[in-house]
Amino acid sequence: MSLRIAPSLLAADFTHLGDEIARVEPAGIDYLHVDVMDGHFVPNITFGPPVVRALRAATTVPLDVHLMIADPDRYLDVFAEAGAAILTVHAEVTPHLHRTVQRIHALGARAGVAINPATPVHVLEEIVDDLDLVLVMSVNPGFTGQAFLPASLRKIDAVRRLIAAHGSQAVIEVDGGIDQTNIASVARAGATVIVAGASIFHTPNPAAAVEALRQAAALS
Ligand code: DX5
Ligand code: ZN
Repeated sequence: MSLRIAPSLLAADFTHLGDEIARVEPAGIDYLHVDVMDGHFVPNITFGPPVVRALRAATTVPLDVHLMIADPDRYLDVFAEAGAAILTVHAEVTPHLHRTVQRIHALGARAGVAINPATPVHVLEEIVDDLDLVLVMSVNPGFTGQAFLPASLRKIDAVRRLIAAHGSQAVIEVDGGIDQTNIASVARAGATVIVAGASIFHTPNPAAAVEALRQAAALS
């Protein structure tokens, strides 16, 4: 499968979100990554459902909603209704993962489970068959612009092997600190969906930055 790019709006200019999307869309992006943070599970606070709803009206690009919130079950319905195509919850704060994933599917969205850098891959073992996506965090979640953690490469490979062993359809998404210097190794390890914030939006030309990421990945 070819590499999919999901620009993270966390690194965009919040006073011009519509314009920022228009600046990156010409690159033919696959998803827009929307980082929802609650100030409990992670130290930062970002967007809620009204912003997701506004984004939904501003673009046809599917919204990849990454819930970094303490009690995601409470908010699945409202984020699905707001227009999320993918809803990803964190394994660390979701005790009934199977029920949560069933609910996401019942709401008509695709289901992802994210794991933090310190969370072992084996927490996915009993749920991987039901997932559309596994999100491997390559930074500790909370902020854009952090450095990629190199140990993530081994972890991506372990997730890839787990998915293959189960014959699961889940794709691997990787999120945090990805730029032109490391995207090839991330893709080589098994990621097919790449989230990138700073390396796209903290540049003068976000569409060109997406293209540069694709070219750097092709060198793998
Ligand atoms: C981090 C978020 C990421 C972040 C990525 O907590 O989940 O999606 O925005 O931004 P960069 O690519 O700048 O690390
Ligand atoms: Zn994210």
